[in-house]
Amino acid sequence: SERPRMEGIPLIQHAPWFEEARFGMFVHWGLYALPARHEWVMNQEETTVEEYSKYFRRFDPDLYDPREWARAARNAGMKYVVLTTKHHDGFCLWDSALTDYKATNTPAGRDLISPFVEALRAEGLKVGFYHSLIDWHHPDFTVDGVHPQRNAADVESLNAGRDMDRYRQYLHGQVRELLTNYGTIDYLFFDFSYTGGHQEEYWGGKGRKDWDSEALLAMVRELQPAIVVNDRLEIPGDLVTPEQYQPAGPMMVDGEPVTWEACQTLNGSWGYDRDNLNYKPVDLLIRMLVDGVSKGGNLLLNVGPTGRGSLDPRALGSLEGIGEWMKLHSRAIYGAGASSYPAPTDARYTQRGDRLYVHLFAWPFEYVHLPDLAGKVEYAQLLNDASEVFLRELDPAQQAMNMTPGGQPPGTLTIKLPVQKPDVAVPVLELFLKPSALRQESAHG
Ligand code: GLC
Repeated sequence: SERPRMEGIPLIQHAPWFEEARFGMFVHWGLYALPARHEWVMNQEETTVEEYSKYFRRFDPDLYDPREWARAARNAGMKYVVLTTKHHDGFCLWDSALTDYKATNTPAGRDLISPFVEALRAEGLKVGFYHSLIDWHHPDFTVDGVHPQRNAADVESLNAGRDMDRYRQYLHGQVRELLTNYGTIDYLFFDFSYTGGHQEEYWGGKGRKDWDSEALLAMVRELQPAIVVNDRLEIPGDLVTPEQYQPAGPMMVDGEPVTWEACQTLNGSWGYDRDNLNYKPVDLLIRMLVDGVSKGGNLLLNVGPTGRGSLDPRALGSLEGIGEWMKLHSRAIYGAGASSYPAPTDARYTQRGDRLYVHLFAWPFEYVHLPDLAGKVEYAQLLNDASEVFLRELDPAQQAMNMTPGGQPPGTLTIKLPVQKPDVAVPVLELFLKPSALRQESAHG
């Protein structure tokens, strides 16, 4: 199918909070927390709606307290939280008038979105909804290459009575409910269109025509004019959303830099995955956050609460470790973005006005050499304890010999560092740039 050209998506103008925030929490939570083996379990095990209903009957999140989630997010330094209102299995966390397949009718016995929204606002966090375009429960959603019944003997007859027009009305109606009944919603993360590529695997794939994306997005904008919408309706949204990889540079569309957010997991699975031990170490998660900001992007880091409704100890440990670093270093993240100065290897730069932050991914021995910054820095300190570090400019003509290090290329600023690495996951230098450096900075564009 002809795919619309993705015009350059502007840097989000109507919601400056988003790029200020830089760091959010993704929450994947629903019936799939009970099988506890990935949120695509219904697809992977080709489970029928009937077989899957055993989880519906036993969904009883007695420990669910979204204030705990919100506090854990805030303490980790996260500024917004995005919760799955409905995932691909079709189960709805809110008290939808359009279906019985909802938390209200499980042992949970109530709308689970309302307390979530209230908890976020109480903690001063922005509210995000994830909403699956895909629905493996709805009787009108046609079986296709990613559907749990994709290998059924009678796909033809299964699809004979299905009417995607009825499903579209349901999809639009539920999005209307979510954007009408819960006050201001700051971010909407649709997921996902699959019409191109993987031809054999994604046969019968669905995209903007199946969702009626243009009308859906128009309704979203009408109901919530300030909302941020992602790019998975197969028409341009406000940002692009690389997933489970770190972009090599700023995300571009048609040669233009765009607002972007990488969504990442702690262990590769979005939903709670009990036996999955593939956890990313905390310092790697911090480096991913820094790496993204150094390229002008956000990080949306996922947790998958358990069937009891609580965050598991491993997830809590990861969040606490990140929070410890953010307590000392968040001013190098919030409102910061890419710098046009070239960073040395094993380092990333984030810049916010006249502050340039040097994130040292490897602790060098006594000296770090910063290209193009000679004469442009007034003062420098270790951010964690605001202790001064000294600036030097090594003579480019100096021949390296015995105890004397060789010179550096012209324009290099050398900073002398303590031998002992500060006891933080990623040490950061805070450089105070001279106004001339800024003027040059703006000249860089
Ligand atoms: C992919 C997965 C889905 C997950 C989403 C998060 O689309 O299929 O399970 O919710 O990524 O962005």
